[in-house]
This record gives sequence, structure tokens and C-alpha cells, in this order.
Amino acid sequence: MQRLTLALAPAAALAQTYYGCYTEIPARALTGSSLIDYEGMTIAVCETHCTGLGFDIWGVEYGGECYCGNALAQGSFPAFSTDCTMPCPGDTPPTTTTTTEPPTETPTDIPAPADPARAKTKRRTTLLNPRADTTICGGPNRLSLYGTSPDPPTVTPYPHPAVGPTPSYLGCWTELTDALGLRTLPGASGFSPTDMTVAGCGSYCLNNGFEVFGLEYGAECYCGAELNVNSTSVAEAECGMACSGAAEEVCGGSNRLSVWEWVAETEEK
Ligand SMILES: *[C@@H]1O[C@H](CO)[C@@H](O)[C@H](O)[C@H]1NC(C)=O
Repeated sequence: MQRLTLALAPAAALAQTYYGCYTEIPARALTGSSLIDYEGMTIAVCETHCTGLGFDIWGVEYGGECYCGNALAQGSFPAFSTDCTMPCPGDTPPTTTTTTEPPTETPTDIPAPADPARAKTKRRTTLLNPRADTTICGGPNRLSLYGTSPDPPTVTPYPHPAVGPTPSYLGCWTELTDALGLRTLPGASGFSPTDMTVAGCGSYCLNNGFEVFGLEYGAECYCGAELNVNSTSVAEAECGMACSGAAEEVCGGSNRLSVWEWVAETEEK
């Protein structure tokens, strides 16, 4: 087995793979051990702590929280990569007395759009995945996840029926704009100023246990069990915004959703 071969190899170079930005769950995605240090945490500090205890997987969350384990708990899965934006405090130079500027980022900040030139050249296929940046230590309820194996850990999504490999397009639908503040798809939601794609939103929603998903305003992803009855189907031309992570894909419009649905495996023939 591959694993055995690796185990017998000389321990010279410790492999470290960045798996991406993963969702946290209330009961913790990684339950083996934890180390909290909001001043000195770095990816290396967490790696040393976790591998020292014999764990294969480690993740840093909310800047200073390191968690270890050998498997991910149910409900932890790839999030949009731009959800992990908090700098590692141990990598950040201490502020000097001559600096009066506030920190550029707070936990609740929406990440600034990336340089368009960079966005154009980045890989499209791994939307929920990896541009390793070892100075980033997760985000609110998000883990910058690393491990010793080159392969990402097994993910156990929230329950959903078995679905076919590709979703079906349901058309362009209105977002609800009533005073109740309801959304057409009220389940989980995600946002990515640089990485939103149809496949990424679809995977994110399915992992959250939702079969219907909609993309809005180029960068927003909404999940639901079904479309709200008050949403109406509108002309295709009203969904005209390119996806932030794939210029050739359509991601809704202003108060307009490009809606897709995962089709049950049994319905596909
Ligand atoms: C649809 O709109 C009506 C009228 O505003 C409202 O009473 C009803 O609760 C809405 N239905 C849903 C499912 O949001």
C-alpha cells in the first residue's frame, strides 16, 4: 500500500499539504487536540503541536486556534477559499507606536476583491481549494486545513439523497425583496469575490445538505431545499452577470438568481 511505503521512507522531509479553507462545526471538525494562542500562532506552530502528538491533520481557525485530528467530523467540508483571510498573528510584525492606522482586517470584514489580473490567471477548477498561503490562519468558523497526506481528508456532508454527477439548470429567478427579508433560497449561503463558480456553489450547497442552489450578483451562493413560492421565473437576459471565479459562467444578476438543482440519481436515465 502507498501508505506503508510512505511510513517506511526516511523521515527526512515532513510532507505538508494545504487542503484548503474548510468549514468548522459547533462540536469541532478536528477533535484530537487544540492549542490556542492569539499572539504567536503560525501554521508551523500548529503543525509542530499536532504532528508532535501524532496527528495527521491540523487546521488553524480565527487567527489563533489550532486544532488537530486524524479525520474530519461530519459537516466539515471545503468552503470558499476567500473565507480564510485572517492573518496568522505569529507571522504579523508587531505594530509600532508610529503607526496610527487601524488593522486592515477584522473577523467580520468581507474580503476585498482581488487584483483582476491575478484573478484572470488563477486556476478555475479548484474553486473551493487551494492557493496555499501559510500566513493565513483561517477565519471565523473556517479552518486553513493542512495535513501530512497529499490527498485531502474524506469529507462527510450533511445528509442528502444520492444525486447524479451534474445539476440541472432551472432558469433565472427573482430574489425576494419583501419587507420580511426572506430569501428565495433560505438555506446556507456563501460569498466569494474571486472564486464563485456554478460547480463550487453546487458542491457547497450539496455538502450542506441542500439540493437546490442559486448564484446571484456574480459572487453570492444560496442553498435551499426548494425555491420559495413567491420567487418568479424571469427572462434569461436578467441573469447576465459573470461568475467571479469563471468569466464564462453566469451567476445571476441584481436580485436575480441563476438556479440549479441536483437531480436524484434514480431520476437520471
Ligand atoms: C409569499 O408572499 C405572501 C404575501 O406577501 C406571504 O404572506 C407569504 O408568507 C409568502 N410565502 C412565503 C413562503 O414566503
